[in-house]
Amino acid sequence: MRIAVFGLGYVGSVTAACLAKLGHHVTGVDVQPFKVERLKAGLSVIIEKDIDALVAEAAAAGRLSATDDPFEAVAEADAILVCVGTPSGPDGSVDLTYIQRVALQIGEGLGKADGRRRLLMVRSTLPPGTTEKIIVPLVERASGGKAGGRFGVCYNPEFLREGSAVEDFFAPPQTVLGAMDEWSFARAAEVFEGVNAPVVRTKIAVAEMTKYTSNLYHALKICFANEVGNLCRAHGLDGHEVMRLFALDTKLNISAAYLRPGFAFGGSCLPKDVRGAVRLARAAGLRLPVLEAIIPSNEAQVRRALALIEGTRRRRIGILGLSFKEGTDDLRESPIIQVIESLVGRGFTLRVHDENVALARLVGANRQYLEEEVPYLESILRPSPKDVIEDTEVVVIANASPRFREAAAHFGPGHVVIDLVRLWPGAPPACGEYIGICW
Ligand SMILES: NC(=O)c1ccc[n+]([C@@H]2O[C@H](COP(=O)([O-])OP(=O)(O)OC[C@H]3O[C@@H](n4cnc5c(N)ncnc54)[C@H](O)[C@@H]3O)[C@@H](O)[C@H]2O)c1
Repeated sequence: MRIAVFGLGYVGSVTAACLAKLGHHVTGVDVQPFKVERLKAGLSVIIEKDIDALVAEAAAAGRLSATDDPFEAVAEADAILVCVGTPSGPDGSVDLTYIQRVALQIGEGLGKADGRRRLLMVRSTLPPGTTEKIIVPLVERASGGKAGGRFGVCYNPEFLREGSAVEDFFAPPQTVLGAMDEWSFARAAEVFEGVNAPVVRTKIAVAEMTKYTSNLYHALKICFANEVGNLCRAHGLDGHEVMRLFALDTKLNISAAYLRPGFAFGGSCLPKDVRGAVRLARAAGLRLPVLEAIIPSNEAQVRRALALIEGTRRRRIGILGLSFKEGTDDLRESPIIQVIESLVGRGFTLRVHDENVALARLVGANRQYLEEEVPYLESILRPSPKDVIEDTEVVVIANASPRFREAAAHFGPGHVVIDLVRLWPGAPPACGEYIGICW
């Protein structure tokens, strides 16, 4: 393909050189003349492992060039890639000045070019919605054409790391293509033919958010490891050894486990142990802001669930699921109990059901917990989901028991269903209104 790459910074120049290596004919575009001149001369504009040879080889083969004329670049291209910077503004917000300017230039270029359909592929990191709500309208206005007509649209997040950028380009963890239509997806996939990675298609805004989510998580991992390391050192331990063992667990630790947005954690271990570790740190004179923020973050999720229930402006509330997760009768520190207490205390009418928390069957610590901590529960427990649903206007799904999925047959048009666990991953159940806590 003939590809124009706007923005010859770290991402753009690596993208340009690597795509040329894959066999495309690439033209780099930048507003900084020295970058254009260097690339034209077959010299890299950045210092990065493996890039010098790639640029030199591609330029010598006539597959990599550069220009400061955006219109010429657009006219000749089949695909136009946008890799300009999106730096932080003074208040931390994302500065979209460069991306907006480049959108207008590309639009104008499309307006001047022949009517052949071209692919616009955005690769800069952007807040979700920017491509569709800001970039596309600017390109449409400046070109006089429509997305889906004169140009197709795709957002492709870049996952390369400086220092190993070329290697990362050719073997990224995945190629995420947020495409507006089949044509855009197929063309975008063609751009990356030869790259060793699974191709995943999604919505444009989801692709934009995936990039932020990745960087948030990477940053969080670094701070987590540092704070654990600090705590280890305070106890005379080698943080690297602890982390090495931690990372050996690819079932629960380094895995997709616990990465499902939903309700607060609870139970007999996580709250207790997070509190315990934070106290250990305090006793050692350490401040660990990330670890200290865990309990407040969890409490905020409980308040969020409460706010959703109150926001329905209905008073008769049913709760399905009492224990902190399905398949257990352990009620200790179950976050839904906090929600129930708050609602009962403020005069809401409650009905609750949990197949594992039938009073008669409870023994030992759980029975004691129930009798001492939540004695009012006995009067609001109901024997089946049906009994709860038929007697209430709002049904809160608080754990993922498969039996609650079947209970959806009892929902009517008067029911608001608040799902804290994503019990229906596909289509939500038929009811008056369905609300997911974070989806
Ligand atoms: N650097 C990384 O490791 C990395 C990794 C993944 C994603 N990203 C994202 O990719 C984007 C680019 O990052 P970068 O580090 O390459 O930025 P950069 O600042 O190194 O380069 C941006 C380039 O865009 C050029 N530019 C600005 N306006 C232009 C215009 N109208 N026409 C042509 N060129 C123009 C600038 O002159 C500059 O050369 C950012 O959104 C960034 O967040 C960066």
